[in-house]
Amino acid sequence: MFVVLVRAGCRQRADALSAGSQGFPVIMPPPPPAAALALPLLLLLLVVRTPPPTSARPSPGPDYLRRGWLRLLAEGEGCAPCRPEECAAPRGCLAGRVRDACGCCWECANLEGQLCDLDPSAHFYGRCGEQLECRLDAGGDLSRGEVPEPLCACSSQRPLCGSDGRTYAQICRLQEAARAQPDANLTVAHPGPCESEPQIVSQPHDIWNVTGQDVIFGCEVFAYPMASIEWRKDGLDIPLPGDDPHISVQFRGGPQRFEVTGWLQIQDVRPSDEGVYRCLARNSLGQTEAPATLTVLTPDQLNSTGIPQLSLVPEEEAESEEGEDYY
Ligand SMILES: *[C@@H]1O[C@H](CO)[C@@H](O)[C@H](O)[C@H]1NC(C)=O
Ligand SMILES: *[C@@H]1O[C@H](CO)[C@@H](O)[C@H](O)[C@H]1NC(C)=O
Ligand SMILES: *[C@@H]1O[C@H](CO)[C@@H](O)[C@H](O)[C@H]1NC(C)=O
Repeated sequence: MFVVLVRAGCRQRADALSAGSQGFPVIMPPPPPAAALALPLLLLLLVVRTPPPTSARPSPGPDYLRRGWLRLLAEGEGCAPCRPEECAAPRGCLAGRVRDACGCCWECANLEGQLCDLDPSAHFYGRCGEQLECRLDAGGDLSRGEVPEPLCACSSQRPLCGSDGRTYAQICRLQEAARAQPDANLTVAHPGPCESEPQIVSQPHDIWNVTGQDVIFGCEVFAYPMASIEWRKDGLDIPLPGDDPHISVQFRGGPQRFEVTGWLQIQDVRPSDEGVYRCLARNSLGQTEAPATLTVLTPDQLNSTGIPQLSLVPEEEAESEEGEDYY
């Protein structure tokens, strides 16, 4: 609702401006002494909307919205003759630079995922950077009355291998990284992901639990070509599960591109399950592994540790399951 109102207001203003200023070069003044009304508003905006310090991706929110409000204020004043020497030089523009609403000074373009102006004559949210297009975001839940938002989207979704040997989801991500660190001379090495030995993105954690409980180890691996995952227990020569009916192994692609995730589940654990389990990931370029330890406590051992919350283990169940034991 808020968005629509603002955009409508913005368009009207832009229309009025273009109708009144035909033949004029489009220009933006360095703000002249602010009008009586504008100054308090501006101060308020500067105080309230100061963005929190962020490190990695710049916050898509307050900073460029503030620029939107400043643009509206400035547009109200019309464009003055362009004096490039009075322009502030924008720094750290991760999506590149674009001309401001008056076609005079450079300002930072908007990043992927930031709001933008669908109507090219509007100058509220600002323009998207290189390789980015302003598109209505179809992802919102329209049935709940959400208004689709115009967002900067990358014109390509193809992954690339950077000269730093890292895979980028698409060209916009690579350019963002290149602009964030100009000294690194980051360029496109080749289209498609970089070939890579398996890297364990999320490794299995050490687990302890009481006999009769189920435990699960997880292992998330990035590789290109895709990796295969194998689980092994130290001291056993076979990959799990072998023929052990209380062990199962699962794989799934993802959660990110070029990743695969594997799980090892041991149901109804007993003391003999204790040991070191390894996730082994392999592809044509190499292999890697990550170990995790399983510790199994009997209810008696647990009781002697004095940890209260686990004394809830249903003992009957544990006993009846022992009765079904195969080994
Ligand atoms: C980037 O390129 C410049 C100029 O070619 C060179 O001086 C600099 O060492 C390069 N930096 C890296 C990290 O390769
Ligand atoms: C033990 O296993 C149960 C069931 O799998 C789980 O709910 C519980 O959090 C585990 N306890 C610990 C200490 O990991
Ligand atoms: C746990 O230990 C307490 C005393 O330390 C004892 O009274 C209780 O019966 C024990 N419970 C079990 C399940 O062994």
